[in-house]
Parts: sequence; C-alpha cells; structure tokens
Amino acid sequence: MNARTLIALLVGCLIALTACDREAYMSQQGFRLPDGDAEAGRKAFVYLQCHECHTVAGDDLPEIAGAPQPYVELGGKVASVKTYGDLVTSIINPSHRLATRYAEQVVADDGESKMHVYNSYMTVQQLVDIVMYLQPTYDVQAPEYHYRIYPLS
Ligand code: HEC
Repeated sequence: MNARTLIALLVGCLIALTACDREAYMSQQGFRLPDGDAEAGRKAFVYLQCHECHTVAGDDLPEIAGAPQPYVELGGKVASVKTYGDLVTSIINPSHRLATRYAEQVVADDGESKMHVYNSYMTVQQLVDIVMYLQPTYDVQAPEYHYRIYPLS
C-alpha cells in the first residue's frame, strides 16, 4: 500500500467516524425548540380556546361563555417528566398517545383524540410559547415505593 492510498483510507475513516458521531449526537439530543415566552403562551392558549376543554393546574383561566366545563387537566402531578418533545407531540399529533389519566372513552372516539388538530392555523411561535407556558405546570412526583423487609431465615 502506498502512502497516498493510506492517507485516502485514513481520511475516509475519519469522515465515517465523524458522521457516526454526529448521528449519535443528534439522536441523543433529540430536537431543540427555540426558547418560548410563557406569558405569550398563556395568551395563545386562551386565544386558540384550548381552555374550552382544558384546565391548567395552578392557573385560573377565564371561562368561555356557553361552553361546557373543561374536562382534561394539563399540568399537575405526574409520575415522569413531560419533556417539550412530549408536549409538542401531544399538541401536533393528539392521537399519537392519549393522556393516560383518563379512561379512553372520555378522551377519544374510536382511539382518535377528541382534541382538534391545530396544525394548519397554529403558528410555530404559538406552539413554542404554549409549550413554555405548560411545561412548568407539571409537577413530577417520584412514585412511592413501599419496601418490605423479609426476615432472612
Ligand atoms: C375539543 C377539546 C379540546 C381542545 C379545544 C383542546 N384539547 Fe388538548 N386534549 C383534549 C383531550 C380530550 C385530550 C386527551 C386525549 C389526548 O391525549 O389527546 C387532550 C390532551 C392534550 C395534551 C396532552 C395531555 C396529557 O396529559 O398527555 C396537551 C398538552 C393538550 N391537549 C394541549 C392542548 C392545547 C395547547 C390546545 C389548544 C391549542 C388544546 N389542547 C385544545 C381535548 C382538547
């Protein structure tokens, strides 16, 4: 093998390695939203009338005259972190995973979420702001474990 082939091989390996690294990096990082503004998010939430169906833990949202009571709470105690990936998915693809706190027939018809799909009229900025508004309203509680010590015999 001459020097040129060796160099070409080394360069090839390097490129391959960098590509692998980059892929691993991207999949670990998932995706990153630009920072939103929680206050604008609350406004967008009310503007889009999300509170027709949702209450938000710790926030007193205005009532919509004539609408039935909202029936799905957002925020509050959850067993695991709601990442912004989870929240974005819940908003842009509501049927992907239904909220787990309710019986399916309460929140879905034939497995399809009762939530509207807003994708053709919600702006990305509104989405980012709404996620910023909602995320801190979730309160992650570690599940309680009951340890039982068995006598050794
Ligand atoms: C017509 C009623 C309705 C409206 C309006 C509505 N949603 Fe929903 N939403 C639901 C229902 C029902 C669920 C539970 C089923 C599911 O997970 O899709 C839900 C679930 C969610 C969840 C996931 C909750 C969880 O615990 O997994 C988020 C986040 C959410 N909605 C955000 C929004 C936002 C933001 C808006 C306004 C842009 C909105 N919703 C408007 C009915 C609605």
